[in-house]
Amino acid sequence: MSTTKKTDPKKQEKKAEGSQALQAVKGMPDILPKEEGWWKSFRAAGATVAELHDFHRIETPILEPAELFERGVGAATDIVEKQMYAFRTKGGERVALRPEGTAAVMRAYFEHHLGYFASPLKAFYEGPMFRYERPQAGRDRQFHQWGFEIVGDGDSVYDVEVMLATLAIFRELKFPAFTVKINSMGCKVCRASYREKLKNYYRAREKKLCKDCARRLDKNPFRLLDCEEEDCKALRGEAPIILDYLCQTCNAHFKSVLELVEENGIPYEPDPFLVRGLDYYNRTVFEVWGVGAPHALAGGGRYDYLGELIAGRAVPAVGAAIGMERSIAFLKSATPPVALSKERPRVFFTAVGDQAKRASLKRMEELRRAGVPVVEALGKRSLKGQLKVAGKLKVPLALIFGQKEMFEGSIIMRDMVTGAQETVLLDRLVEAVKQDLKKKS
Ligand code: HAM
Repeated sequence: MSTTKKTDPKKQEKKAEGSQALQAVKGMPDILPKEEGWWKSFRAAGATVAELHDFHRIETPILEPAELFERGVGAATDIVEKQMYAFRTKGGERVALRPEGTAAVMRAYFEHHLGYFASPLKAFYEGPMFRYERPQAGRDRQFHQWGFEIVGDGDSVYDVEVMLATLAIFRELKFPAFTVKINSMGCKVCRASYREKLKNYYRAREKKLCKDCARRLDKNPFRLLDCEEEDCKALRGEAPIILDYLCQTCNAHFKSVLELVEENGIPYEPDPFLVRGLDYYNRTVFEVWGVGAPHALAGGGRYDYLGELIAGRAVPAVGAAIGMERSIAFLKSATPPVALSKERPRVFFTAVGDQAKRASLKRMEELRRAGVPVVEALGKRSLKGQLKVAGKLKVPLALIFGQKEMFEGSIIMRDMVTGAQETVLLDRLVEAVKQDLKKKS
């Protein structure tokens, strides 16, 4: 007699639920191997520019005291008010996933007395940032920035050096047209009178403001200038502009920045309403926009007061950060298409038979140690299957290593374009491959 087990449908449902494949957290996309070429090109361009401009790598932790950003970026900014991943650890510390890199670099600057070792300090960083935003094209909750910071000098040459380094990455990547929007945020003195003018302007129109702007009107009226709500945007057109209120020193600084920008052929347009979403800026602020791109690709400016806010010591500083996802998306959509930097030509290693497969590891290692990138598909048993993969990868040269070759101490080199084959001795393999690739490149 056959026995059929009764299954409890509720239990089954629970099992199905439990075994459902998990997915990434919303707004935190995976970067897959097929994207590798773009990221590699970006990082290579960044490293080249950093070296040419004498910037040195700094790596700060992903978690920082939440207060660092509350004090530095500003308590009444979107980033701190709405977008920060802040929480208390088991030990009771209030920490935050970094929403940006500048405040962390400044924290490290003071903590490790970096000003004693380099004046100014020229540092660069690359890594993930976290902002709890509404995910949409060009806006993620985890995204990557490449940043440059120059700490310890207030001269306008450094404002422009940061712009030049930022743009050099875009140029290195053969970016299509871009433009730099520039403005000045003045200093504590001149900004105070502008702030009052701005408040009065918006107070007279308070009823038309969105809820956030009405709330921030007193605390932080500059934020009203970069509000995305249609009604607030419409009011901006008639608002007073800071350039009419700059003190003599800020005016001279801004003038000098603009002169240097022109002398260095930077494509720019003044934008009197550019205030940026972070409170620490003074004097120069700028953003890089790809022509036709929906969002800024990079943003930065001077932040001479940030040191005072986080360590009680004012140290002049200027910097910028490039959004890597946005820049890569813009590169991909460019017309004519942007070509990625050429990879080193690779060889494809095929082996047929168990013994040849085992011996192939040593041969591939010899090539790799000599600097030749080697690809294989040894998981496929047949030569035909392996060569099919080689064809798909469009490698110029394949090596065929069968039982016969193994016993003879030789290997076949096959030109993947013409199909021509040549047998070489294993002792000469590295030399012959290098020569062949040189001819092909
Ligand atoms: P930011 O303008 O907030 O500035 O960010 C710089 C760049 O990061 C933006 O231009 C954009 O490309 C990218 N970005 C920002 N938020 C997102 C997001 N949610 N999704 C994708 N990309 C994003 C700063 O962070 C300053 N720390 C820059 C700086 C450095 N200022 C002085 N030094």
